[in-house]
Amino acid sequence: MSDLFSPLAIGSLELPNRVFMAPLTRMRATAPGDVPNDLMRDYYVQRATAGLVISEGTQISAEGKGYADTPGIHSQEQVAGWRSITDAVHAAGGRMAAQLWHTGRVNHESLHDGALPVSASAVEFRSRTSLKDPDGNVVRANCPTPRALTTDELPRLVDDYRRSARNAREAGFDLVEVHAAHGYLLHQFLAETSNHRTDEYGGSLANRARLLLGVVDAIAGEIGADRVGVRLSPVGSFNGLDSDDDGESGLHVARALAERGTAFLHLSEPDWAGGPSLDDEFRTKLRDAFPGVIVGAGNYDAAKAERLLDAGFIDAAAFGRSFIANPDLPARLEHGLELNPPVPETFYGGGHEGYTDYPAMADAWPPAHIVPSVPT
Ligand code: PHB
Repeated sequence: MSDLFSPLAIGSLELPNRVFMAPLTRMRATAPGDVPNDLMRDYYVQRATAGLVISEGTQISAEGKGYADTPGIHSQEQVAGWRSITDAVHAAGGRMAAQLWHTGRVNHESLHDGALPVSASAVEFRSRTSLKDPDGNVVRANCPTPRALTTDELPRLVDDYRRSARNAREAGFDLVEVHAAHGYLLHQFLAETSNHRTDEYGGSLANRARLLLGVVDAIAGEIGADRVGVRLSPVGSFNGLDSDDDGESGLHVARALAERGTAFLHLSEPDWAGGPSLDDEFRTKLRDAFPGVIVGAGNYDAAKAERLLDAGFIDAAAFGRSFIANPDLPARLEHGLELNPPVPETFYGGGHEGYTDYPAMADAWPPAHIVPSVPT
């Protein structure tokens, strides 16, 4: 058996394989209220054979919402919606983590009654977010320059994360993942280009990491360090934020997480968004910094995952686009079967089309290439 299909323990959670479903924005929550719904339940249940299903980014507060119709985990209605999803995923034999998300400046004032999005600093930057027009069509919009959070707002922000972790436990999630990657709020604090603060949350690397580590500590205090993972993208350029320190801030955070016994570190590699492949030199540094479970993500196929598992650089791999298109991805990878191609036009918004209608192998058995050549 290859490593990808061997079990893995995260804290007290036993995972049957190392093929994870990556967090994927799909913009199909019920509006108003950003409530997880039955369509989302069906989609996640179809993918329950993942070693771990990681939810799409899920806002910790109304303020944290930066895209149209993304789900939240701050209202009781949202918690109930998620509960029905986690119950169904568990009943199908799966395990699920909630990805806790605050988009910060990757945002638009129309989602907040005209109020400006918040960030570490009021720095002009170039990025776009996705909204919906009155007919429900997804439209892209430029993000405005945000306002800087004041120092005395930050304890409230940590509390928002703490409450969302409590809600995630109440909603039946097995783990939470703190989204600190891809140029969203916690990454905006971590990176020098987006953080020009002069208080104890800006300046030195230790200061820039303070909010993220405070959030991790608050969540660990609520649900236990062995139930909290952190997603980082230490190298690359996303959402108008350049990680231009050769990954140093990511390595600093990785060491701090190792000291805290954080359940896992989820590494988003630059090639998910068309950037270069991460080199083995950085992978070695990251492994030295964080001896716990490392989940790799970014344009993975089985061969890339196996090579990095064999080298000891990762312990699991998260698959995004291929999991969108293949609800039974682990079985397909295990048996070397053909993959359905993803259809990018239906990634965001819309209904079941391009969401719950990708066929599993069993729906189309036997796959064309193993049909016996001699008809029986
Ligand atoms: C997206 O919606 O394009 C998106 C969301 C979260 C990410 C990356 C991309 O981390």
